Amino acid sequence: MAIPSLLLSPLLLLLVLLRPPFTTANSAVYFSKTTIFSDYEKMITNLKIFIYPLPNQLHQQYNSTPFTLLHNSLLTSNFLTHNPNQATLFFLPFPPMSTRSLDRHVKLVRTTYPYWNRSLGADHFYFSSQGVGPTSSRNVAELKKNAVQIACFPVPAREFIPHKDITLPPSSVLSRAHPQSEGLSTRFLGYWRFAEVGSGVELINGLRNDGEFLIESEPYDEGVFLERVQSSKFCLFVYDVEGVGGLSVALSHGCVPVVITDRPIQDLPLMDVIKWSEIAVFVGSNMGPNKLKRALIRTCEDGGYDRMKRLGVAAAHHFAWNESSPQPYDAFNMVMYQLWARRHAIRYSKWEI
Ligand SMILES: *[C@@H]1O[C@H](CO)[C@@H](O)[C@H](O)[C@H]1NC(C)=O
Ligand SMILES: *[C@@H]1O[C@H](CO)[C@@H](O)[C@H](O)[C@H]1NC(C)=O
Repeated sequence: MAIPSLLLSPLLLLLVLLRPPFTTANSAVYFSKTTIFSDYEKMITNLKIFIYPLPNQLHQQYNSTPFTLLHNSLLTSNFLTHNPNQATLFFLPFPPMSTRSLDRHVKLVRTTYPYWNRSLGADHFYFSSQGVGPTSSRNVAELKKNAVQIACFPVPAREFIPHKDITLPPSSVLSRAHPQSEGLSTRFLGYWRFAEVGSGVELINGLRNDGEFLIESEPYDEGVFLERVQSSKFCLFVYDVEGVGGLSVALSHGCVPVVITDRPIQDLPLMDVIKWSEIAVFVGSNMGPNKLKRALIRTCEDGGYDRMKRLGVAAAHHFAWNESSPQPYDAFNMVMYQLWARRHAIRYSKWEI
């Protein structure tokens, strides 16, 4: 027994280390697992990003978790290049600032470096937590229309351009995805929290007196929230700026998200990688409470529920950040992957300059 296991263990270890998170069991959640895996490996070796300096007067002042995470992760990653001629893409980092300051900043980049003018910003990307709004400034308009915007999900409708822009998962998971804890018995069919609801208010109110649903509007407490999430089969979210905050927490804890919306959603994180319909239920805000309940019960009965839950827990890995060192296929690397996947559309063939 001892000899084979000695021989086997390095091999097994190697296999475990090399194994991408696409096992046959969870591959259904991806649009194409083979393409994604081979393209991701190409990205790891080939993606090079040049980072412009932060605007001077704002240096060091600004401390927003998503921006700092992205910026710091990039600065310490192998994607960083100090040679702009090698760059696949250019990152223009800036803290929140007025349109006027942003206009000045883009203008400075445009006149100081030759790279903006080559593509009018198309091979550039930037972070803005709520997205850059409509503007009459030429420089900011070019930034918004041409460069890839990374914003926090959900983004106000007019501030997201679907063919190029990217969202980060809701900020409450910027810490980490927890492994799903077993053993908590499921007490509720559906759980919903938050005081203000816009479009989903009737649907939510219609569920208030149903003992199988827990509808809470108490102030937020992380511990209580986690316990509720873990003891509910479905977590209800209203798609608006406030309503989807716990979406990825729910996914990682095995509470299947039900997203109530009155319009098509175009800004889900990892939308071109992950089939959201495999891990979440999307319902119109005009659906009645009884119809919603029947639909959820049906999902549980036909075996679809366990599959969605399993796929959701597996996919949550892509939404977790590791502040100290990004892990393969985690939120940082998946954002990079989405940029990489856009390179053919946004990168101009090499221009002689
Ligand atoms: C880029 O083009 C603008 C005019 O649109 C010009 O003012 C600027 O000097 C150019 N930048 C460089 C580095 O040549
Ligand atoms: C982050 O990465 C470090 C080093 O690889 C690891 O020890 C740690 O457990 C990770 N943290 C999280 C939250 O995944």
